[in-house]
Amino acid sequence: SRVVRLAVIPGDGIGPEVIAEAVKVLDAASGAEGVVFDKTVFSLGAARYLETGDILTDEDLAAIRGHDAILLGAVGGVPGDPRLSDVSIERELLLQLRFDLDQYVNLRPARIYPGVPGPLADAGDVDFVVVREGTEGAYSGSGGSLRTGTAHEIATEVSVNTAFGVERVVRYAFALAAKRRKRLTWVGKTNVIVFAGALWQRVVGDVAKEYPDVVVDYLHVDAATIHLVADPARFDVIVTDNLFGDILTDLAGAITGGIGLAASGNIHPDGAFPSMFEPVHGSAPDIAGRRLADPTAAILSVALLLQHLGLDDEASRVARAVEADIASRGGLPARTTSEIGDSIVAALGR
Ligand code: NAD
Ligand code: IPM
Ligand code: MN
Repeated sequence: SRVVRLAVIPGDGIGPEVIAEAVKVLDAASGAEGVVFDKTVFSLGAARYLETGDILTDEDLAAIRGHDAILLGAVGGVPGDPRLSDVSIERELLLQLRFDLDQYVNLRPARIYPGVPGPLADAGDVDFVVVREGTEGAYSGSGGSLRTGTAHEIATEVSVNTAFGVERVVRYAFALAAKRRKRLTWVGKTNVIVFAGALWQRVVGDVAKEYPDVVVDYLHVDAATIHLVADPARFDVIVTDNLFGDILTDLAGAITGGIGLAASGNIHPDGAFPSMFEPVHGSAPDIAGRRLADPTAAILSVALLLQHLGLDDEASRVARAVEADIASRGGLPARTTSEIGDSIVAALGR
């Protein structure tokens, strides 16, 4: 039978709680099909840093790289914890993995599932995917501080956009749109962020010539937030940079039934590096340890993982089981993390 080497990084806060359910679903969905997930658990995150001082060692990275894929819960401590004030676990762990493993496509689907209560009345048929650039932009780590700590401090955080980096993610987005409803919206802020805007505009225009069937439009990011709330059904594929994509996908999560449902993949498409699948949400220290976390986002991330590995049947079984579980939620009292996981496992069998 096929063996998939899976690195599992449960992380902090609700990370381990939702990953326990995700692994349960993964095993239930794959077992019968003769695929074995050989898992290695990596205890990384704020908790480990506070214990040992390590965030992501060269040995951790080399070991993770030897896997076929990565499943991650969430990392990061309580915002404002003074013991973490000099360090960004998120940057040195999560972003380091995305960068070192060259996961340049941050894929974030957004759907309103039938029966899901959400903040929008009559949103219609909402089913879009945000293709967020994953290795560049304001996340690049380029910048610094002059006259630090003085009244004259100057802090810069440079948004890096390369022709190579923009073209590869834009190509991915076009190819995806061509397989879907053939609408691509690219989002920027070309009226202010002019140099990056011109580069993105040129690349989108060039690649568009190869996809005459794909209808392309452009939105400034501020206007995009209006349309995401006012008429989200208009979107099919959205392509944007790292920071705009981060913000738009929390919004996308909120309009589609809450951040507890939003899944993502950090993809290196040609398979030279393992791709990493994780819920969009963070470690949620405010609800950690109280069995309140919804594991659905982590479970839908498992569906993305299965799809990435070419296990399409298993992926759609998981997605259908989640849909069935969500459809059955109406009017029921809130359930615990493991009750939701169990319900999805049970739906897999049907
Ligand atoms: P968060 O996503 O952790 O929480 C935001 C709100 O959403 C909270 O009220 C939380 O209770 C709720 N929430 C999140 N996930 C939920 C779930 N599955 N079910 C129900 N409710 C859920 O964002 P934050 O509070 O800004 O960040 C907390 C920590 O997580 C920070 O250290 C942050 O840097 C980190 N973070 C990590 C990741 C990641 O690892 N991928 C992503 C975002 C934030
Ligand atoms: C996300 C998170 C991360 C990001 C943080 C924790 C570095 O918000 O995955 O959306 O900004 O990419
Ligand atoms: Mn985010």
